[in-house]
Amino acid sequence: MAFALTVQQLEKSFGDVRAVDGLDLDVPEGTCVGLLGPNGAGKSTTMRMLTGQTLPDSGSIEALGWRLPGESKQARAQMGVVPQLDNLDTTLTARDNLRIFAQLYRVPKADREAAVDRGLQIARLTGRADARADALSGGMRRRLLIARALLHHPRLLLLDEPTVGLDPQVRQELWAMIDALRSEGTSILMTTHYIEEAERLADSVTIVAAGKAVDTGPPAELVARHAGREVREVYGPPDRLNVVEAEARALGFATRRTGTSVAILGAEGAGDRLPEGETRAARLEDVFVKLTGEEVS
Ligand SMILES: Nc1ncnc2c1ncn2[C@@H]1O[C@H](COP(=O)(O)OP(=O)(O)O)[C@@H](O)[C@H]1O
Ligand SMILES: [Mg+2]
Repeated sequence: MAFALTVQQLEKSFGDVRAVDGLDLDVPEGTCVGLLGPNGAGKSTTMRMLTGQTLPDSGSIEALGWRLPGESKQARAQMGVVPQLDNLDTTLTARDNLRIFAQLYRVPKADREAAVDRGLQIARLTGRADARADALSGGMRRRLLIARALLHHPRLLLLDEPTVGLDPQVRQELWAMIDALRSEGTSILMTTHYIEEAERLADSVTIVAAGKAVDTGPPAELVARHAGREVREVYGPPDRLNVVEAEARALGFATRRTGTSVAILGAEGAGDRLPEGETRAARLEDVFVKLTGEEVS
């Protein structure tokens, strides 16, 4: 299997904070990999090392056959980057934001206007081409950021929290856009703390906690591995839930606590060894909570 990106034992500290702590990560060519982890897990720091904006303390990065940071210039020429924080030039129009990047990305002069027009189409902003970026809605700006990253037909696209802070409808739109790119064969690495986003878009998910990859696999495999097929939700007053949780754990089951229930993972076939409750299918959210220790907001 060929890899668009391979990261081994990547490390980065800021003073006493080990933001990235021996991260391993692969993006097979033509696939979308989701780096899923809670806030503070080291996702953005990882992205900044992949784009050459931050130097790793140690570890190795190979992107599209180039070693980083040494050959980051060559790698970046074939990579598109959508940062977590919107860095459009707010004083410029949508079209001029694209023009500047077409030049930065060395799109040949003769092709530039066509590339910009295509970018506006991808962003569905042809009708707003001459509006200043600060007059666009949050969703439009996100689409423009993505279109900007695609001007030079990158083989690898890096998206840091592509839909953070957007309303559900705009999120759906962006998901369709990312999905379409993947279908066209672009390799994609996307960070997210939205489980649904990873589930919806990623062929393979790497779950990160405290700067480390905790496990990797297609969402359904991760679910089967860590949460089994069925989860039994037992409801009751807090005292009762404490007892249920202790009993389930003593029997070797992983549990997670929500406000009103204990969820017992891998409960298929447990029969009456476990207290009665409501049975539902295991899902990636259960895996996320189990592996990262974070509840879902
Ligand atoms: N430039 C920086 N200086 C100091 N600490 C940083 C810096 N960037 C990130 N951190 C810290 O590193 C950790 C990981 O941050 P980040 O990579 O932004 O996580 P994520 O993107 O997963 O939310 C956090 O504890 C954060 O506070
Ligand atoms: Mg981040």
